[in-house]
Amino acid sequence: MTQMKVHIKSFGCQMNRLDTALVRSSLQQVGLCLTDSVKDADIVLINTCSVREHAEQRVISHLGHLKHIRKSRPDIVVGVIGCMAQRLGEKLLEHEAVDIVCGPTQIPQIAKLVADIFVSRKKEIAVTEKILKKTTQKQNLALEEFESVFSREDENIPGQAYVRVMRGCNNFCTYCIVPYVRGPEVCRPPGAIIEQIKRLADNGIKQVTLLGQTVNSYEYKQGEKTWSLADLLAAASDIDGIEWLKFVTSYPSEEFFDDIMHIMAASEKVCSYLHIPAQSGSDKILRAMNRRYDSRQYLELLERAREIVPGIAIAGDFIVGFPGETEEDFRATVELTKKAEYRNAFIFKYSPRPDTSADKKLPDTVPAEIKQKRNVELLAVQEKISERLSRNFLGKQVKVMVEGLSKKSHIDSTGGNPQLVARTATDYIVVFNGPESLAGHFVEVKIINTSPLTLFGELVHEY
Ligand code: 5AD
Ligand code: SF4
Repeated sequence: MTQMKVHIKSFGCQMNRLDTALVRSSLQQVGLCLTDSVKDADIVLINTCSVREHAEQRVISHLGHLKHIRKSRPDIVVGVIGCMAQRLGEKLLEHEAVDIVCGPTQIPQIAKLVADIFVSRKKEIAVTEKILKKTTQKQNLALEEFESVFSREDENIPGQAYVRVMRGCNNFCTYCIVPYVRGPEVCRPPGAIIEQIKRLADNGIKQVTLLGQTVNSYEYKQGEKTWSLADLLAAASDIDGIEWLKFVTSYPSEEFFDDIMHIMAASEKVCSYLHIPAQSGSDKILRAMNRRYDSRQYLELLERAREIVPGIAIAGDFIVGFPGETEEDFRATVELTKKAEYRNAFIFKYSPRPDTSADKKLPDTVPAEIKQKRNVELLAVQEKISERLSRNFLGKQVKVMVEGLSKKSHIDSTGGNPQLVARTATDYIVVFNGPESLAGHFVEVKIINTSPLTLFGELVHEY
């Protein structure tokens, strides 16, 4: 298979992005080379997301395109991996364009599935039959090995890497597909996580983002000691070479919360950024979502975070138009958004997901136009807050980690340098002109202009 070329397209969250990176390096190890173009590819893999219907529709339309390509290139192999593969299984395999279906738990087998198909020329499927059951010891070991062998720098962001601390989720928020596609929660052993971060640091990684669906509920019993996320962050802070540590996504819960905030305050390396979705500001809707807090408890957590870590930046997620959400419920969400003072909020329209208990028990009653109207209104409320918070940066100097060329990169007529995109420790996006060679490095930037979601600056100095 030496000359075979593989193209991988990735949808979805950071978990998926990490899976894509692992798959990519596992395929390179067996001699495949990567290509950015579907036209050149012998194998096309799509890593999929099921969190909203829209994400799945994008994949289906992509498969339609591949079906068309296949008419002129019948030998091309197409694999669907990830959450949608697990959700739809055999049904996806029936799609004319699809040869391989591989769930998130089976990604360590991907190189073998690809190799097998070139021999057998038969469709291949690897998904978990009973996804709600605990993963087996054998599966966990395979995933552990896959994770540690193929972990490396994020392909698009030099100097940075994602490290998973847990897989799956046990929360069963009534709207959410995750437990049905990624299975029950499994926390990785702290030793393996720390070793992995050390190796990444030895290879020049400066920023690590710890990943988990509810990353703050990480818990691992080892002898007498129970490791929490705070312990992981403390241990990772001791690793030479690692300069910034971030973690996503947090669940609003008391458990370990103060410990995590205290290590954030104490360690210069743990970035003062907390992504902690509220989902709704209405207590009635929070109960219907099976979230285990009310709006008052949620706001108290934010208050404590701000007391312990002055200057912390907080981001949130909301779902608008959840079944039964009245105008009054939505007003409560607007109120909570105003009080929360997020630096940024991600707002989604409720999308019923098959198998989830909301979909089974609660009809999708809020009309599409109302969902849209609430989405637009909440975005506007948040934009005002973001704009005000961004403006505080005017004239200030901030340390940023440079990610690379800005997507809308253009050459500045004065300096001749391209536009770069970077992030602050508090996850603000900063755009400035500078040499591309700064990607993966820390620099100091002076902020000269702001918009709600982006700060614009001038390079002051490199570190
Ligand atoms: N519909 C709309 N948004 C959803 N999310 C999760 N499930 C759904 C759904 N069924 C949102 C939540 C979560 C983010 C990753 O996606 O806000 O925090
Ligand atoms: Fe990530 Fe959830 Fe989408 Fe899977 S379904 S890719 S876990 S957001």
